This record gives sequence, structure tokens and C-alpha cells, in this order.
Amino acid sequence: MSDQSNYAQPLLQMTNIHKSFGRVQALRGIDFDIGYGEVVGLCGDNGAGKSTLIKVISGYHQADEGQILLEGQPVNIKSPHESRALGIETVYQDQALAPQLSIARNIFMGREPTTVLGLMDRKTMARQSMEALTGLGLKIRSTDTLVGTLSGGQRQGVAIARVIHFKAKLVILDEPTIALAVKEVREVLEFVRHLRSEGVSVIFITHTLHHVFDVADRIVVIAHGTKIADIATRNTNVDELSDIIVRGTYGD
Ligand SMILES: Nc1ncnc2c1ncn2[C@@H]1O[C@H](COP(=O)(O)OP(=O)(O)OP(=O)(O)O)[C@@H](O)[C@H]1O
Ligand SMILES: [Mg+2]
Repeated sequence: MSDQSNYAQPLLQMTNIHKSFGRVQALRGIDFDIGYGEVVGLCGDNGAGKSTLIKVISGYHQADEGQILLEGQPVNIKSPHESRALGIETVYQDQALAPQLSIARNIFMGREPTTVLGLMDRKTMARQSMEALTGLGLKIRSTDTLVGTLSGGQRQGVAIARVIHFKAKLVILDEPTIALAVKEVREVLEFVRHLRSEGVSVIFITHTLHHVFDVADRIVVIAHGTKIADIATRNTNVDELSDIIVRGTYGD
């Protein structure tokens, strides 16, 4: 069942993606696409294959079979480094940030600018990270603040500020609202809207349909490694989607 939105040329188009772990067939011929500036919610029960699908995009896993086109060109994403170089940034719940380091260090982690002497250019880091945070509407007094002292919503903000600074084309958020307070969830949803307004495409994985429904243009549901629904949010509602996820089928 397919119900595509009006996004003519997809930014990313995946066709017939298969991935197995030993005898477990995590992905069984999935087709998935996302347009420029589109927000797609990726939903499905535990073990459905959501994380495996996005790990194929972010270079942690390689598909056993299938094709990936990015901006119309075939790509072979062999590592997380290659995925980032293509403009794809993945934000995992918590694990992407170092709590014992400052906000600025976290934003630049592994990609720090250097001075002519080859030292870490802390001034540039402070200025540019403050710009990225302010652009997101995140009010932080100093980028020297340790990430470990921030709230969950603020941490997601820092992770998202990083992808904004490095000008990602596609941002993948795997359960960004898990374990967040209501107010923090609202903040994260605002960050997603901000990304879209900048023309960035977002894949948003969640178990909580209410969180994704308000920001997503389209919802894709997977069950047992197969795509079972692909619906524009304007043509569905939370009840119908919950039903699809629970039953693991769509249509009769
Ligand atoms: N590295 C791995 N090695 C072996 N099996 C794996 C591995 N990663 C995932 N699987 C299996 O593949 C299937 C899909 O897992 P995946 O993590 O993609 O599901 P998910 O939809 O993200 O679930 P959840 O909502 O619980 O995060 C599951 O059966 C899982 O046990
Ligand atoms: Mg997962």
C-alpha cells in the first residue's frame, strides 16, 4: 500500500533492501524513500527492523541485497564515515554525546577546527557552536557547559546543533524522544521543524505515534522486516496508525 507525497525527486531512494543476521532476516526487501525537506516518521513494533534500516543508511551495516540512490546517484555506503561525508547525520539516543565534555567539544567531536599552530581552535568552536544553538532557539549561557549537566531535551538540541553546523542533507533520529519529559519532547519536535524549514530531510524513529504525527509529512510502518504502510499524515490519523502497527498489516 503506497501513498506518496508530492516530493518529485527523492533525496534518498532505497530499493529491495535485504539484511540478515545469521538466520534472522531483519529486512526482507524494503523500499524506502525520502524527499528534500521531508520529515518521515518510521514506526513499527520492537524488532521490526527500524534501526537496522537506518543503520544501512548510516553505514553501520551494509545491505546483503538492494540499491541505494542518493540524489539520483547510486551509492555504496561502507562506513559511518562515508555516510557523514555524503551529508547524512545520525543522532542516537544519548550515546552520541560525551557527558564529560563541553557543548562546544561535543558539537565538533572528531572534526575540530585547528589554528595555524595545529592546536584546537577553541574560539571558533565557541562562536560557531553558539551560532548553531541560537539558530535552533536553544538558550545556553556558555558553550563551555558540560553536556552531562544538561536536560534530555537540551542534549538532543546539542546533537541536532551538530548536524546543523555540519550542514547535513539528511538527519536520522532514532528514538529522540524516548525517556524525555513532555516539555523536552516539545523542544525536540521544534528542532525537527527547524531542520525542515532549513530544507533538511528528517527520518524520525519512534514508538510514540503522537510524537511523530504532528511533525511528519509521511509515516512508514514496518513489521517483520517488510514495509506494510506508507501514508501521508494528512490522509491518516493516530488511531488508524496504531491499529496498523498492532495488527502488523494494512488493508485486507
Ligand atoms: N547486530 C545484530 N545481530 C543480530 N541480530 C540483530 C542485530 N541487530 C538487529 N538484530 C535483529 O534484527 C531484528 C530487527 O532489529 P532492529 O533493531 O532493527 O529492530 P527495531 O525495529 O529497531 O526494534 P526496537 O523498536 O526494539 O528498537 C531483530 O530481530 C533483532 O533482534
Ligand atoms: Mg531500534
